[in-house]
Amino acid sequence: MTVSGQTVQRARELRDAILHHNRQYYILDQPLIPDAEYDRLFRELQQLEEEYPELVTPDSPTHRVGGKALDAFVPVRHVVPMLSIRTETDISDEGAVAFDVRIRKELSEPDAVIAYNCELKFDGLAISLRYERGVLVQAATRGDGEVGEDVTQNVRTIRSIPLRLTDCDAEVLEVRGEIYMSRKNFEHYNEKQRDAGLPTLVNPRNGAAGSIRQLDPALAAKRPLSFFAYGWGEVRGWNLPRTQSEVLDALQKMGVPVCDERSVTQGAQGLVAFHQRIAEKRDSLPFDIDGVVYKVNDLALQSQLGFVTREPRWAVAHKYPAEEQITVVRDIDVQVGRTGKLTPVAKLEPVFVGGTTVSNATLHNEDETRRKDVRIGDTVIVRRAGDVIPEVVGVVLEKRPLDAGEPFDLFKRLQGQCPVCGSHIVREEGEAAWRCTGGLFCAAQRKQALLHFASRRAMDIEGLGDKLVDQLVDADIVKTPADVYRLEVEKLAALDRMGEKSAQNLVDAIRHSKQTTLARFVYALGIRNVGEATAKDFARFFGSLNALISADEERLQQMPDVGPIVAQSVCAFFGEPHNNDVIQQLRSVGVSWEEHEGMTMEVLPLTGKTFVLTGTLPTLSREEAKALLEAQGAKVAGSVSKKTDYVVAGAEAGSKLDKAQELGVTVIDEAALMQLLESKT
Ligand code: IVH
Repeated sequence: MTVSGQTVQRARELRDAILHHNRQYYILDQPLIPDAEYDRLFRELQQLEEEYPELVTPDSPTHRVGGKALDAFVPVRHVVPMLSIRTETDISDEGAVAFDVRIRKELSEPDAVIAYNCELKFDGLAISLRYERGVLVQAATRGDGEVGEDVTQNVRTIRSIPLRLTDCDAEVLEVRGEIYMSRKNFEHYNEKQRDAGLPTLVNPRNGAAGSIRQLDPALAAKRPLSFFAYGWGEVRGWNLPRTQSEVLDALQKMGVPVCDERSVTQGAQGLVAFHQRIAEKRDSLPFDIDGVVYKVNDLALQSQLGFVTREPRWAVAHKYPAEEQITVVRDIDVQVGRTGKLTPVAKLEPVFVGGTTVSNATLHNEDETRRKDVRIGDTVIVRRAGDVIPEVVGVVLEKRPLDAGEPFDLFKRLQGQCPVCGSHIVREEGEAAWRCTGGLFCAAQRKQALLHFASRRAMDIEGLGDKLVDQLVDADIVKTPADVYRLEVEKLAALDRMGEKSAQNLVDAIRHSKQTTLARFVYALGIRNVGEATAKDFARFFGSLNALISADEERLQQMPDVGPIVAQSVCAFFGEPHNNDVIQQLRSVGVSWEEHEGMTMEVLPLTGKTFVLTGTLPTLSREEAKALLEAQGAKVAGSVSKKTDYVVAGAEAGSKLDKAQELGVTVIDEAALMQLLESKT
């Protein structure tokens, strides 16, 4: 069969595109297209090459794993290559069934029931941890599978990776697994970056890869990463157990983090059941996965099956719908949140992403929209992972049409007015968000506050959704959360889309919600900067609402993780007579919770003192210095202000030192810091 010129040309295009995207992804940590798009290109090339083997070139990207090492890291040759796994892309059960059929055929055991170890396919960065006599001596990335990069320094900053294994004196044990960033840490990190007007991470996987391949370990250490083991490389002086699952158990016993979400199942049915069970849980997992992995459990069978080029025959990955896709921005709207915050939202050409169809995605705030330069008409990457709101993570600039809109300007777009109540909008200094100044006069804010109050993690009133809240607020039936408890079946039943039955159900749910917890109640109040975790901490520390209400800013800040901003928001909220009035009303309609004495807060020697670290200290790493200070109750802040008590300066201290001198803040060196720490203990 001769290959047409068109096919040759297409193969060349695909190779060039893949090489380009490999470089963006593996070397620059700046992917330009979502994974699903990359996979499509890769598969198309693989198929062409399978059909026309004469098209295969020695440098074809289908014959290599990933990219070349960055020059900056020392190369590490893997004694046992780090391979990849074959991927079943069809979302149905067929992939699992076909894999099981293939395995039985290869083993010439058509009737056997094979035991498989089913694991999650973590979406992070593959890493090989080399332990010699139980001590971590080296960490390396996969690189091209044969040669990776030495990233030991950065990996040592990951707390969950043991520097020494428990009860392991194997001469060599290479533990392989995935470094990942949890969804929570990713959100936190991005939230902080957004507030500071700094660039955000595209997704957790990039966060993990970018941090580990970051040249400065101190910067790497700032990004909270985790690790799960799923395999091994070189092993000397340790008798491997007989199955994949037992190896993982053994590693777990040695102190290596292994994900508990794994199970040994029998035959194709077991694989299908695991795939389905995890699909249902996927959104609520604390980290991203892009699929599951099935592995023949018996290691003897694994070696009998062996490898084909870059993939083992005994394992396969079965994917879930991608959490990133590309689509087009039709318009940019602005929504008013609970606290008046104005959020630009992209109206999208509907796209199937992360298992649902998405037509709106948040752009977070004006600065971020401008930084990413999202314009109407642009092709963008949309991410929807877990329970979080879908977001636009970037623009595919190559696809910008000539008639794309102007750079986004929120004030101009709204002509300075709240799109719901017409009040003027402001952006306070140091704030990333524009806000509507209408307060509870603004129907949008009232609606959002009510929805938040009723939400699952707050008062948990099932059935009080946005359509109903719209009607209740628009008709002035509900003005404050307390009014919710005065709703009656007859009145509700008369509303649009409400029957007698659903009205009764709602009234029951409302009554049911009266018995709650202090944490839920505090969270439900919707105090600015007080999320669920902070509300829980308050409930634990203060024990009663009155104790929380009477705490002043200083007292509030004695709590770990509570800074001046949160403290100020809390005091401002309870300082507002209107809010206390609503709380009083809620209590009088019967909303109640259990209270306790509260905790006596331990006052440590440096409680209330704020430190800023700058420059390189002679012996302590920044992380160590921070840990020592925090252990004594001090806060370690990122920037110098009038409230800073001490600046600890090392070599090559920069602008923070200047700022400290300008403000007259005490500057000390490492020796003085050690003295201070010792004198306090
Ligand atoms: S096994 C020899 N198990 O997926 C088989 N890989 O293409 C080696 N991955 O980037 C891989 N979770 O880092 C295996 N439970 C799991 C995995 C997993 C994620 C990643 C791996 C690599 C890719 C394999």
